[in-house]
Amino acid sequence: QLKVILWLILLMGMEAGFLSNTGTPKELLHLTLGRNLALTLEQNISASNRFGPDGCWDSITTPQVFTLSDPPSMLTTAQVNGGMDGTLLGMEVSNKSRKNVKLSSLLTEYYCHQLKGKGMDEAPLLISQRRKDNFRRLVLPSRLSRTTVESEELQRRLAGGSTMDEMEKGQMMGRIEEGMNEFIHMYMDCPPIIPRCQWGAKPYKGTPTNLSLPLNFLYIHHTYIPGQPCLTFEQCSANMRSMQRFHQEERGWDDIGYSFVAGSDGFLYEGRGWLWRGAHTLGQNSRGYGVSFIGDYTSQLPSQHAMGLVRHQLTSCAVGGGRLVGNFTLQGHRQVVATACPGNALYSEITGWEHFGV
Ligand SMILES: *[C@@H]1O[C@H](CO)[C@@H](O)[C@H](O)[C@H]1NC(C)=O
Ligand SMILES: *[C@@H]1O[C@H](CO)[C@@H](O)[C@H](O)[C@H]1NC(C)=O
Ligand SMILES: *[C@@H]1O[C@H](CO)[C@@H](O)[C@H](O)[C@H]1NC(C)=O
Ligand SMILES: *[C@@H]1O[C@H](CO)[C@@H](O)[C@H](O)[C@H]1NC(C)=O
Repeated sequence: QLKVILWLILLMGMEAGFLSNTGTPKELLHLTLGRNLALTLEQNISASNRFGPDGCWDSITTPQVFTLSDPPSMLTTAQVNGGMDGTLLGMEVSNKSRKNVKLSSLLTEYYCHQLKGKGMDEAPLLISQRRKDNFRRLVLPSRLSRTTVESEELQRRLAGGSTMDEMEKGQMMGRIEEGMNEFIHMYMDCPPIIPRCQWGAKPYKGTPTNLSLPLNFLYIHHTYIPGQPCLTFEQCSANMRSMQRFHQEERGWDDIGYSFVAGSDGFLYEGRGWLWRGAHTLGQNSRGYGVSFIGDYTSQLPSQHAMGLVRHQLTSCAVGGGRLVGNFTLQGHRQVVATACPGNALYSEITGWEHFGV
């Protein structure tokens, strides 16, 4: 049933995108997502409860049932993803220079493109891994805000309400502006992060220690083992499970040590996450997050795409969400502990990143 719902949302989004490029007024663009946003932002609820949650499939290899990880808000992550995909694919199918593309091939390419070689660095532009980048590039936040305001006005008119006076309109715009900032933070600034339950994490052993936010440091690691970058969700999540098993069973830790892990499949993976203290950088685990790239980066670099996710998106998400201070310091593991980590090649690369510090 959920699949049907997702498809419906996707198709509604596509319809909105389609209409926009075929002579009907531009304002119809993103109508569905805009309408959902308007309905959500109409509610007087705290910002942290407005969007989400994400959720998990019952199986990694043969998913059938999707369960939300918390009670639903008015606009769950699955709905937002469907709305974004619908808008992007709708723009594509209505593009006159793309007349001959079959919808089935477009969908297969979009959702099932097999990464090879340099992974995302060589992948086509229009694939689901790039959903957020494409949405941000093609749908300006100001445009989405405007559509949301218009959608709310339209709903009121249709409901037979009187037109809003300037003061009411001003209040509504203020509310939408504020909610839109939260939306942009969650769905445009923050990178796509696969939650623990999606990669099949075992529970934390015992009780996690909460971090006291915001933190001042971000420590960069490589996993070394596994030594190869992972290019598929199946491979990256298997790597996550084997690292967690190793850390819990061989090392005797409570959980996988890293806060986040970067795959080369277009995603970051949640380790201990934003709130729990990790076990990654001896003596400094309360002061910083530990982020590791899957692979051995002694003599080669992760993909540009994977590095961009950490260097730009994860950091702006962390600062914007109040998890890292604005002037945080980024360091390689080897600057704090006697180790070769994060590998010579990657270490030399990060010395040129913003926030790198000794
Ligand atoms: C929104 O809710 C808060 C408390 O939850 C309340 O103080 C405020 O007056 C409400 N605002 C509106 C416009 O209803
Ligand atoms: C249509 O596709 C062409 C070729 O890929 C691209 O250059 C153009 O920007 C697209 N137009 C729209 C409206 O998306
Ligand atoms: C840690 O944070 C969680 C939720 O963020 C909270 O429920 C829990 O009580 C906190 N634990 C401690 C020891 O402060
Ligand atoms: C970071 O900024 C805060 C105030 O915004 C300042 O007190 C602190 O000294 C700065 N830290 C560094 C390492 O520059």
